[in-house]
Amino acid sequence: MCGIIGYIGHREATDVLIDGLKRLEYRGYDSAGIAVLNGRGIEMERAEGKLAALQAKIKKSKPHGKIGIGHTRWATHGVPSERNAHPHRVGDVVVVHNGIIENHAELRKQLIKKGCQFRSETDTEIFCHLIHSELKKTDDVGKSIQKALEKVRGSYSLVVLYGKEPGKLYLAKLGSPLVVGLGKKENLVASDIPALLSYTRNVVPLEDGELALLTKNSFKILNGNGKSLSKRVNHITWTPLMAEKGGFKHFMLKEIYEQPRVVEETLMGRIQPDSGRLILEGVNKLFGKKGFPFKQIAIIACGTSWHAGLVGKYWIEKLARVPVSVNLASEFRYADPMIGRDTLVIPISQSGETADTLAATHLAKSKKAKVLAICNVLGSSLARTSDATLYTHAGPEIGVASTKAFVAQLTVLYLITLELAKRQGKLSKEALITQLTEIRKIPQHLTKLLKSAAHIKEIAESLVNASHFLFIARGPHFPVALEGALKLKEISYVHAEGFAAGELKHGPIALIDEGVPVVALVPKNETYEKILSNIEEVKARGAHVIAIGDATDRDLSEKVDDFIAIPKTDYLLTPLLYAVPLQLFAYYIADHKGTDVDQPRNLAKSVTVE
Ligand code: G6P
Repeated sequence: MCGIIGYIGHREATDVLIDGLKRLEYRGYDSAGIAVLNGRGIEMERAEGKLAALQAKIKKSKPHGKIGIGHTRWATHGVPSERNAHPHRVGDVVVVHNGIIENHAELRKQLIKKGCQFRSETDTEIFCHLIHSELKKTDDVGKSIQKALEKVRGSYSLVVLYGKEPGKLYLAKLGSPLVVGLGKKENLVASDIPALLSYTRNVVPLEDGELALLTKNSFKILNGNGKSLSKRVNHITWTPLMAEKGGFKHFMLKEIYEQPRVVEETLMGRIQPDSGRLILEGVNKLFGKKGFPFKQIAIIACGTSWHAGLVGKYWIEKLARVPVSVNLASEFRYADPMIGRDTLVIPISQSGETADTLAATHLAKSKKAKVLAICNVLGSSLARTSDATLYTHAGPEIGVASTKAFVAQLTVLYLITLELAKRQGKLSKEALITQLTEIRKIPQHLTKLLKSAAHIKEIAESLVNASHFLFIARGPHFPVALEGALKLKEISYVHAEGFAAGELKHGPIALIDEGVPVVALVPKNETYEKILSNIEEVKARGAHVIAIGDATDRDLSEKVDDFIAIPKTDYLLTPLLYAVPLQLFAYYIADHKGTDVDQPRNLAKSVTVE
């Protein structure tokens, strides 16, 4: 969603802001803008559409100065347009804002009554008017911001540039992420770490309710009561190079190809196949040395992370025999869920900033459940809220459609499954050693699988004119089918649905007509024969079947129109492999259609508002 960048230091602020905004593009946006302060005052440029439009304007009249703020906007209140683009300004008060002001209509009415004139339809402009009005009573900017915030209900991360104080940036956070980056004789602030990486890897995330003051040589954080706080500086290991395309046409493709390394890094230091040891950070502290002190597990997540959770349920129940519910965070948070001290809640989130997942986690904590998060971003709001966090070491994921984070989440879920199975006495040491040995081979299987990319591209390109696709599977592959359909919808704007193959006869089979593509996931397991029958049923009605199955499965490959071979591994681990051809399939269809693969229309990488 919206991205924020702020800079104060010795460089040309416009350059840093544009560079930062480029790195935030992946969050999804429809307009952008910057404001820079110099001896002549505040200079602003804003434009609807992609950053190129803003850059074209800047080329004509570049704002010069050493302090400034920038923003990419994803429209919530008011259409995408230049006048609704941030920064917003009233007098000398200039603001960029992420989040939503829930009582904006009420506040707007009050402010209009007082004579304020609005120049945009945004809720953000309210902040400018509120702060501007307070500054008529005092010259203390920090206090004016605080007073303004007291009137506001909702979520925000805010950076304020005040024209009369050329050496300061004011920050505030509630609900939406904001991270300070500490450099040498320069400081930055951004909604997301990749925007900071070219300048510093020393970061301090702000907490809800905090206010901060940034100068080029210092930063001061205050809590809601005005008390100054000392903060630990986190050193991020992500490098700027990790957030580059590295020769690939799109970030998504690069991230698909990174998966062997991602699985390897997610396993690193956590497994010892020779001795059958698992080392999962924080788990002993949460569970105790032995046994499993909870009666049930509730997984909460959104989007792709929710699909990972569904696979996790299958694994945990099958191997560890602990009951698991998998909940959409947006539903869970309003559902009065039956959880308490007996529940381990596992929120799964790539970003650690998804508003619904965070709200659901807070609800779980208020009900005294313990929280073990699976997350990709060090120091994210989710990690800070949870009792323990198992990080997916996927590195920055820039493509809006999640790929490598999904496979990394599955890897961590599998490790949790093995840990629980061991603690529940359901897995012998020998069986654990076998599992750990098998999972360690996944990176090499993935490397081999990626070699079929050209074949998958050929299949995908032969189907670009189809207007809807069905994905069918059973067991732990059903959520993978859902994920395959989601990928296709997200980036190629084609209608696609995933179904449990056994449900076909209850409705979806009515969709089958001559040439409708059906992607079937057909691993060799106890339901193999069943899904073969499903394939016969759709074929008999004219479907074009693309099967993904065991590399050795001759019968299957001869039966279907197209076949994608998966290297042999333990059946339970196969979802980690089957996900990959589906990602490539969606990618090649979208690329052939020429859609904006990394930033598909209407979507945001991290949904930080409800
Ligand atoms: C957005 C993204 C998805 C992602 C979902 C959950 O919708 O576009 O790719 O799966 O949010 O995000 P999270 O960061 O919580 O995993």
